[in-house]
Amino acid sequence: MGGPPSSADTARAGTGGLPPRIALIGFMGSGKSTVGRLLAHALGYHFVDLDDRIEAEAGRTIGQIFAEEGEESFRRREAEALESLASEEEVVAAGGGGAPVSAGNQGFFSGVATTFYLEVSFEEFVRRAGSDPARPLLRRGMGELRSLYEARRPIYERLGRRIPTDGRRADEVAQEILEILGR
Ligand code: S3P
Repeated sequence: MGGPPSSADTARAGTGGLPPRIALIGFMGSGKSTVGRLLAHALGYHFVDLDDRIEAEAGRTIGQIFAEEGEESFRRREAEALESLASEEEVVAAGGGGAPVSAGNQGFFSGVATTFYLEVSFEEFVRRAGSDPARPLLRRGMGELRSLYEARRPIYERLGRRIPTDGRRADEVAQEILEILGR
């Protein structure tokens, strides 16, 4: 009750000085969920897939939310899910590809969490994501997807430390992040 603000920091230092929240951002198909699971397992943290949390809260799939409520409603749900993460600790979170786009969400990635940007080339994204029916944005044409990719890239670069993923396995990507974290 009203203890010194440094007490939480001391507890953190006791767990090895790891940041309490680690976030992975990047375009669809960058491997955020796969790498996030590996990372959480290696650190003994719990893993949160933001899209899974949104689906659980809504009681419907991302596809249904887009189709029945529209993208705006999905983005509102996404911001709420992100907010709920701010008070959690020892967590690795994979955000959806669009989560860092809105200015209101950016404080989470730039301050509340330690953020890594999993970089995937557009060509590799097309190969990996294919036409996954669970991803409503993939119904858009290639030109529109490329514009989205180009528009988001500087946002990702600004908010997260860049980790290339093209031609690398998920465990290699996770290993690079672990080394940066001193593990
Ligand atoms: C989206 C990416 C998806 C999901 C939703 C919207 C986006 O997540 O949040 O379909 O705007 O890029 P993944 O990046 O995990 O595919």
